[in-house]
Amino acid sequence: MPPAAPVDWIDIRGGHPLRGEVAISGSKNAALPILAATLCAPGRHILHNVPDLLDCRVFLQVLETLGVEIEPLSPTSWRIDTTGLRCDHPQPPQELLSRMRASVLVMGPLLGRCGRTQVTMPGGCSLGERPINFHLAGFQQQGAQLVPGPDDSVMVDAPDGLIGADISLPFASVGATENLLMAAVFARGTTIIRNAAREPEVTDLGEFLRAMGAEIEGLGERDITIHGGAELQPVEYRIIPDRIEAGSYLCAIANTGGSGKLTHCEPAHIERLLEVLDQAGCTLDCGPDTISIQAPPVLQSVGIATGPYPAFATDHQPVWMACLTTAEIADADRPFEIILENLFERRFNQVEPLISLGADIEVLSRAACVRPVKALRPGVVSCPDIRAAMGLVVAALRVPGTVRISGMLHLRRGYERLEEKLRGLGAAIEEPAPVRLATAAR
Ligand code: EPU
Repeated sequence: MPPAAPVDWIDIRGGHPLRGEVAISGSKNAALPILAATLCAPGRHILHNVPDLLDCRVFLQVLETLGVEIEPLSPTSWRIDTTGLRCDHPQPPQELLSRMRASVLVMGPLLGRCGRTQVTMPGGCSLGERPINFHLAGFQQQGAQLVPGPDDSVMVDAPDGLIGADISLPFASVGATENLLMAAVFARGTTIIRNAAREPEVTDLGEFLRAMGAEIEGLGERDITIHGGAELQPVEYRIIPDRIEAGSYLCAIANTGGSGKLTHCEPAHIERLLEVLDQAGCTLDCGPDTISIQAPPVLQSVGIATGPYPAFATDHQPVWMACLTTAEIADADRPFEIILENLFERRFNQVEPLISLGADIEVLSRAACVRPVKALRPGVVSCPDIRAAMGLVVAALRVPGTVRISGMLHLRRGYERLEEKLRGLGAAIEEPAPVRLATAAR
């Protein structure tokens, strides 16, 4: 039987409260750097709780092009054998790099293990310009030379090995901290990364490196210290739960005035969002790896400003904006709420589609001003990025009528078994019948 073509749209019939339990998957943004970090030690690693997502599949393909052998043990566990890493060509293919920016995370391990790496500059994406200048400047401080190559590529070369360095990041960049951390485990001497990102995904990467034998102090703090040169061994490791997915389901339940329980999650990773939901009128009860939520019929509006962890996560901003579109404002003198986006220059991709559903939102540079309306209306929408698309899903779940969301490919990059999980909470979702592809010519 030929394979089923991926379905690119769903219809959500909203307007009723979600209720039930949902299990949270492994973290995409922890899995990607940890997949890269398997390159740091030759041998067979086993990773568990890798979410079954398009982005993880593409990243596994990147590893394969570098000579790594991959074997699935279950949909979310993988054996990854990095023995055959090909240091003669330590370069992720441009096609995969352009499909997924996070492939730049192989630079640190390749530079450390092979003494050089080459990437085509990833350029901007739907979130705006996303340079990697902090990554490259840090590698230079670690003793690497940058040599411009053809087609906007750059060769990063450290033929005599990397050296410890005192690196101050101009901004607590997640990707730069991760890349420099992975390179630093190979450096001679001690590296300090100041103003390091403190996101739980960075800490999880550091814990994975430590499990392999790396000497790292200060994970989750402003300054991370790495004593380089330790011998690293392959390990078996379980990836942390996805805090962005967890927050998205909390907002989905909250926006419908529903109640439910998240399992397999880490409440400590989303404290700021839990505070906001509490201020909005939700009753929350956290266990060691569960969060129960009971939402009021209408949420109270709460303004937010995104920032590096532990501030409100930029990846939760679109789902919270969806909640604000029909929230209730207590202050009659100020009939709007402000969302400030401080991380990315274009992270309001959900605004236009939300407006087409009847939301009242005005964007001024990095601020969005949301004037709540009574209800959004049915319509057809699509979105060019993962988190914005989830914002539309959360909004649609409250609409009394049907919203068609196309561009499901984006959601499949970031949310494992989305339709199944939403249906488990009682959401009414319809999708087109799968179309059988014609058998490919041999
Ligand atoms: N920046 C620079 N130069 C650099 C690096 C970053 O100017 O060398 C700027 C970026 O342009 C951006 C800001 O610093 O404006 C923050 O970027 P950061 O490096 O922290 O983000 P990232 O590593 O590219 C990761 C996640 C994003 C998440 C951000 C912020 C992964 C694979 N991606 O991106 O997740 O939004 O951190 O927390 O971990 C997503 O999952 O949908 C997603 C985009």
